Amino acid sequence: MTSARTGVSPVDTTAAAFPADFLWGAATAAYQIEGAVDVDGRAPSIWDTFSRTPGRTAGGDTGDRATEHYHRYRQDVRLMSELGLGAYRFSVSWSRVQPTGRGPAVERGLDFYRRLVDELLEHRIEPAVTLYHWDLPQDLEDLGGWPVRDTARRFADYTALVADALGDRVSLWTTLNEPWCSAFLGYGSGVHAPGRADWTAALRAAHHLNLGHGLAVEALRAALPRDARIAVSLNLHEVRPLSESVADREAARRIDAVGNRVFTGPMLNGGYPVDLVVDTAHLVDWPTLIHDGDLATIARPIDLLGINYYTPTVVSALPDGPAPDTAAAGEAGHGDGAQSPFAGCADVLFHRAPGERTAMGWPIDPSGLTDLLLRLHREHPGLPLLVTENGAAFDDRLTPEGAVHDPQRIEYLRGHLDAVRRAIAAGADVRGYFLWSLMDNFEWAYGYGKRFGLYYVDYATQARIAKDSARWYAEVIRRGTLPDLGV
Ligand code: FCB
Repeated sequence: MTSARTGVSPVDTTAAAFPADFLWGAATAAYQIEGAVDVDGRAPSIWDTFSRTPGRTAGGDTGDRATEHYHRYRQDVRLMSELGLGAYRFSVSWSRVQPTGRGPAVERGLDFYRRLVDELLEHRIEPAVTLYHWDLPQDLEDLGGWPVRDTARRFADYTALVADALGDRVSLWTTLNEPWCSAFLGYGSGVHAPGRADWTAALRAAHHLNLGHGLAVEALRAALPRDARIAVSLNLHEVRPLSESVADREAARRIDAVGNRVFTGPMLNGGYPVDLVVDTAHLVDWPTLIHDGDLATIARPIDLLGINYYTPTVVSALPDGPAPDTAAAGEAGHGDGAQSPFAGCADVLFHRAPGERTAMGWPIDPSGLTDLLLRLHREHPGLPLLVTENGAAFDDRLTPEGAVHDPQRIEYLRGHLDAVRRAIAAGADVRGYFLWSLMDNFEWAYGYGKRFGLYYVDYATQARIAKDSARWYAEVIRRGTLPDLGV
């Protein structure tokens, strides 16, 4: 989302509490925590293949073991309960339910999620199911993956199976997590599975992810009780031009098109934006890609829009002459790939704003979250918002006394929760906040080196150790406001 640059303002801890029914949550994803990749009939997903391919992930890390959540889920639900979570957002592994991406459900795979949901409900924690968090069954990738239309249909079939199994006990559903990453990191720059670097494939994937979302919404509505709520989680880029020059604003418009409106256009406004179609006409033939009826399917109404936010995106046009030191071409905080993930935007430069950064190198700027929420509130009045991911990696260390002091994470969370509160105070209808992540886990191409958790995981023993931020977040939840606890 493009917006004027605003500064970070100090946290206002005297402010009003969050709404009484505000949903306090934490989030994870199947491949990042479950492990147990070859039990109960599960077959490889594109992330198994990708992470086992030499050179694709830091240190050759894979999700083979991860945090062994598949076997330790009871203990993990207890941790959630200690935090006082109102909701837990997790994803279902498609490959556990349909190992080849087609055919009848494997009941043993579904049973794991039935047990997990029961355990959550027993602890009065609302389950929030994400149907797709990037782990396409490898067999479907072998048939062409998301650039192929049939994958969208397969996704709808899988959705119906999961809805049938869990629909009586789960009332909050998310179709896709960050389809931008699936399309543009997976098929555009190749830093995520399946690791292809082909802008045409990325744009085709984007359309089929949109279509898959729409078909999944239809499948969910058909299977679920009326009061079920359906969402999608988008990592909308809060795009800011480096300067107000015409060239930099044009760069921001193009990134907003291929980074945001390629999803919000068809999902929320009924069609692809004209400027996107013009910008990318040399890469994809939109009129043949979009079939009759697709746009109506994709625009099926949703009940909530999920927002994942970590850092703003600052862009400029490529200047004449040598690139300035501050710019990193093709770098948008997503790791260096064969080419920019932003299809057709090789000439746009990405800048890292000055100031503090997380261990991912992402600049810390909570104002981006307020701006993003308010913009969505303005552009889509009446559509409730949910922050489905926000959090930070830092270089956490376990002290000899067995503690993890993470004042920077507390500061990050405090700033971003205050940003949410400010958006609510200004009128945005934000229903909840899911912190990324419950515990340290497999951070995709960065492997286990990047720790986002409230709980530190000692990967040698699989012990979970509450970081200071876990206690801080529990206090926030208990009070329903931002305590000025010091850090
Ligand atoms: C998001 C992903 C999530 C995690 C965080 C740090 O893009 O959805 O799985 O990797 O980033």
